Amino acid sequence: MIKSKRNFPNLRYFYGLIEWKLPTLNRRKLATSKAQTIEDLALLAKKRVPKVVYDFVEGSALDEIGYSRSQLALRSVEFNSRTLRDVSTVDSSEMFFGKKVDLPIIFAPTGYTRLMQHVGEPAVAAVAERNNLIYCLSTMGTTSPAELAAAVPDARRWFQLYVMQNRTDSLAVIKQARESGFEALILTVDTPVSGLRLRDLRNGLTIPPRIRLSTVFAIARKPMWWINLFTTKKLEFAAFRGWDKSLVELAATIFSPALSFDDVKWLQKEWKGPIIVKGIQSVEDAKLLAKMGVQGIVLSNHGNRQLDRGPVPIEILPDVVKAVGKKLDIYIDGSVMSGQDAYAAIALGAKAVLVGRAYLYGLMADGERGVEKAVELLRRDFINTMALTGNRNLKEVRETGAVLRKTS
Ligand SMILES: Cc1cc2nc3c(=O)[nH]c(=O)nc-3n(C[C@H](O)[C@H](O)[C@H](O)COP(=O)(O)O)c2cc1C
Repeated sequence: MIKSKRNFPNLRYFYGLIEWKLPTLNRRKLATSKAQTIEDLALLAKKRVPKVVYDFVEGSALDEIGYSRSQLALRSVEFNSRTLRDVSTVDSSEMFFGKKVDLPIIFAPTGYTRLMQHVGEPAVAAVAERNNLIYCLSTMGTTSPAELAAAVPDARRWFQLYVMQNRTDSLAVIKQARESGFEALILTVDTPVSGLRLRDLRNGLTIPPRIRLSTVFAIARKPMWWINLFTTKKLEFAAFRGWDKSLVELAATIFSPALSFDDVKWLQKEWKGPIIVKGIQSVEDAKLLAKMGVQGIVLSNHGNRQLDRGPVPIEILPDVVKAVGKKLDIYIDGSVMSGQDAYAAIALGAKAVLVGRAYLYGLMADGERGVEKAVELLRRDFINTMALTGNRNLKEVRETGAVLRKTS
């Protein structure tokens, strides 16, 4: 039997191993720093916010079948891989309308963001600014375009638009985006009517939250969230501040069931900058929009919050790329929970992915620091996968490609 030769302990070696830094006493900060996946952040988020808020973010429409299908489909993508290529320098940047962004990952528009955490949109956009990423503000944002521009003047800001039932109302919103220096419009078209989110209906979600007997228990369970709610400015659709309408009335006018291709044409006249149409779920619609000359489309089912059991975005991506990839930019979203998920979409030909829940989990878990952590994790896995597949830039990622494996 082979034995190890023993000696006196080497004190200098032992001393060198000691970590002198004191651990932080901030438990929240510590927990965030230990997260290794977006799912870890989601677990922390669940502990920090009331159930009704967590469910609003995590939930999707009806039986939530489409969401798990999207997740499974993304995870089933197999990466082609090259070796013996020098990957000492890996460049994950991409150009958007003539300017460079550090990762092909965009902060998707999410309504009511201050419900998740009291700072909300500015906290997320500050992370975008620091990391040279793009932030997209929702029409249903709880921070106005002007407030956001003032908070993060150097962030690349896009604005998500719902063409409302009354075009004059839409024009008033577009004007705010233009005057506050928003660079591009994302027109969301998958909301002719509101999706049926059963978790929200069961939880009796209202914005702002109603105070009921059950609220008292909810406050006892998550006191910090409630203290922040009561001690910061009120929750409202900030782009409509001063309008003589209740939140319920506003929500009802924001979605137009009459939305059609004519509205896209109308918008092209009203907005001279880039227009990206979000919520496309077929090759046919992608072709029509390419013909109309929009700058991009987002293959999206609204994170499965609208139509359940619709087409899975990543599964239609290769056909859409083949049909219109040379004519417009193709973005994609839904269930992107890691840098590897993002990589899968880029390798199959997307220009960039949008992420929604991934950053909202970080925001709920630990505010701006949690969003920063989400970006750190997405970036870490994306760059690591680029190096391990032998790709030095996104052009090579798309050339090397990936295989969409059947999930059923
Ligand atoms: C809480 C929440 C609110 C959202 N609000 C909007 C919105 O106001 N406008 C919009 O176009 N999309 C909205 N979305 C959809 C996102 O822009 C995006 O399509 C979706 O979140 C992508 O899926 P993922 O969350 O799995 O990343 C929302 C999504 C979530 C989770």
